[in-house]
Amino acid sequence: MGLFHCPIGAAVYEDSECIRCGLCIAQTREEAVAASKIVREYLKTHVSARAKKYLIQKMAVCGKGGVGKSTISTLLAQCLEECGYSLLVMDTDESNPGLFRLFGFDEAPRPLMSLLSRFSLGEPGPNAEWLTRDEITLGDIPREFVQARNGLSFTMIGKIDDPFQGCACSMSDVTRELMLKLTLKERQIALVDQEAGVESFGRGVERGMDTIIIVVEPSYESIALAEKISYMAEGIGIPRIRAILNKVPSEQVEEKMIKTLTGKNIRYLGAVYLNALVSEEGFEGLPLGESDARTQMRTITRLMLDEAEMKYKN
Ligand SMILES: Nc1ncnc2c1ncn2[C@@H]1O[C@H](COP(=O)(O)OP(=O)(O)OP(=O)(O)O)[C@@H](O)[C@H]1O
Ligand code: SF4
Ligand SMILES: [Mg+2]
Repeated sequence: MGLFHCPIGAAVYEDSECIRCGLCIAQTREEAVAASKIVREYLKTHVSARAKKYLIQKMAVCGKGGVGKSTISTLLAQCLEECGYSLLVMDTDESNPGLFRLFGFDEAPRPLMSLLSRFSLGEPGPNAEWLTRDEITLGDIPREFVQARNGLSFTMIGKIDDPFQGCACSMSDVTRELMLKLTLKERQIALVDQEAGVESFGRGVERGMDTIIIVVEPSYESIALAEKISYMAEGIGIPRIRAILNKVPSEQVEEKMIKTLTGKNIRYLGAVYLNALVSEEGFEGLPLGESDARTQMRTITRLMLDEAEMKYKN
């Protein structure tokens, strides 16, 4: 099937998994739109069976700008690590510099985008052969691109720092290729902190993911974008799409948000409340420590693992 990704997961047209939606053989835009409607209907009716079939291995954390994607990614990675999982965290945001600090690293690793000579700006990129392999394991990623501690490995795609440095599309290509080819062992999870909005979906960055976490804050725009992300993620065949509410100020607001999301057929996992300590740590650029937000995320993480029937340490 080459570069084409069947949203159902069929290896070739007309194999046993193929629902003959016609997407991969569509010749015109009209045929592609009609085929994607068939896919969407199929995915809607088979959603829980599909989610059960897939372990949580490659997840992307998405949402509107500033809703708390990086904060939730950090808390989620910390809680998954507590549950006995090894994490590869990937920072794909081309603008915000500080995710490595939330994880308590003093320095950022070498950015993966330096593999692309166009982005190296005078510095020759290292041999990128490993990125062209059909399967990439965590051990294949050269050490210079990883900051590691205990069960956590941190990588970043890189930042646009200079004028005329280039367009972010090629950076998305690296993320997409890596996520598609990454081969994880039991108890390894890759977690991608995505840039804000839906542009990455337009570039197909999430194609290799089994799980999309949509972070939603109590605002009209955030909920509207959550609906769009859910639509896009469903359209590219992601089997597990879940919302985590963030910056929730009260139980009443939480109830309202749950009602609104449920009305839009978006399944939610739980809520992290507005937290003064998290806000202060964010302001100071400090690592995220113990807080009520972490406790709330522990509950969410266990629910998520229970739902996927995955084991964890208590
Ligand atoms: N539950 C929370 N309580 C209080 N403050 C929070 C909470 N979650 C996030 N914040 C704060 O909100 C701000 C934005 O959070 P964060 O950087 O995680 O958002 P983001 O979605 O990753 O933003 P961007 O779209 O710019 O990448 C930060 O200052 C962070 O400390
Ligand atoms: S895209 Fe549709 S027609 Fe093509 S292989 Fe997948 S299910 Fe079959
Ligand atoms: Mg961020």
